[in-house]
Amino acid sequence: MSIFRDDILAGRVALVTGGGSGICKGITEKLMAHGCKAAIVSRTQEKLDAAAAELQEKTGGECLAVAADVREPAAVEAAIDATLERFGRLDIVVNGAAGNFLAPAAGLSAKGYRTVMDIDAVGTYTVCRAAFDKALKANGGQIINISATLHYTGVPFQTHAGAAKAAIDAMTRHLAVEWGPLGIRVNCIAPGPIDDTEGMTRLMPKGMRDKMEKSVPLQRFGRSDEIGDAAVFLASDAASYITGSVLVVDGGAWMAGGMQLMHGA
Ligand code: COA
Ligand code: NAP
Repeated sequence: MSIFRDDILAGRVALVTGGGSGICKGITEKLMAHGCKAAIVSRTQEKLDAAAAELQEKTGGECLAVAADVREPAAVEAAIDATLERFGRLDIVVNGAAGNFLAPAAGLSAKGYRTVMDIDAVGTYTVCRAAFDKALKANGGQIINISATLHYTGVPFQTHAGAAKAAIDAMTRHLAVEWGPLGIRVNCIAPGPIDDTEGMTRLMPKGMRDKMEKSVPLQRFGRSDEIGDAAVFLASDAASYITGSVLVVDGGAWMAGGMQLMHGA
C-alpha cells in the first residue's frame, strides 16, 4: 500500500542507471509500482536481467535491462535508443550509477580519484546530455540525480566520492537553470545510510552498526523504498514547481555527524 495514488506516474517511461541493485533498484520498483515503464542500466547484463525479472514480478510493470558503462558515451546513447525503441518515449532519468571505496587522501592515486569522478560526475553528465538530446529537449521531463551528504562535513576516506557528489549537486543546479525553460526539472536526492546496500555493507566498518544507528536522529538506517518514495514525489506533478533542489533523505544523520562516525572519525 503506497502513500501515493497507484497511477501517479501512469504512462511515463523512466531510465535508471544503477537500477539493478541497492537504492536504485528500490527507486525503480517504486516508479514501476506507480505506473512507469522502466529501463535499468549498468555494466552487468546478468545482474540487470535478474533485477528486471524481479521488478516485473513484484510490480506487474515492464522493465528493460540494458548493459552500458556510463563512462562510455556511445554505450549510454545506445541504451537510450533501446529504451526509446522499446517504450516510444523517455520522461524520467535517474542517475544512480556510482563507484566508491574507502581510501585516505594520502593513499589515493590520481587514477583512483579520476575513476570515481568519471563514473559519478562525468557519467551523470553523459546520461543527462544523451537523454536531453534524444528525448527531453523535445518533450520536457524530470532528471533525478543521486548524490550523498559526504561533502557536507568532509567525511574521512571519501575525498574522491565527496568531490564527485559535490559536482553532481552543482550540475543539478546548472542544468535546472539551463533546461528549466524547456520544461525539464532537475533535482537531486542525497541519501544517508541506507540498509542492505552495497554502499553500507562494503563501506561501513564492522562493529560500527549499533553506534552509528544510535547517532542518527531518527534512530535507524533508512530503507531503499524510502528513497524510492522521494523519487516518486520528485518525478510527480506534486513537485511541479521544484527544480534545482537537493532533497536530503537521511533521518538527520549528517547533522548529527553519523557519516563521520561511519568512518571512525
Ligand atoms: N583504495 C584505493 N584505490 C582504489 C581502491 C581502494 N580500495 N579500489 C580501487 N582503487 C583504484 C585502483 O587502484 C585504480 O587506480 P590505480 O590502478 O592507479 O591504483 C582505480 O581505482 C581504478 O580501479 P579499477 O578497479 O580498475 O576500476 P573499475 O572501473 O574496475 O571499478 C570501482 C571501479 C573501483 C569504483 C569499483 O569499486 C566498482 O566498480 N564499484 C561499483 C559499485 C560501488 O562502488 N557501489 C557503491 C556505490 S556508493
Ligand atoms: P550499488 O548497489 O553498488 O549501486 C551502484 C550501481 O551503479 C550498481 O548497480 C552498479 O552496477 C552501477 N555502476 C557502477 N559503476 C557503473 C558504471 N561505470 N556504469 C554503469 N553503472 C555502474 O550501491 P548503493 O549503495 O545502492 O548506491 C546507489 C547510489 O546511492 C549511488 O549513487 C551511491 O553513491 C548513493 N548513495 C548510497 C548510500 C548508501 O547508504 N548506500 C548513501 C549515500 C549515497 P554494475 O556493477 O552492474 O555496473
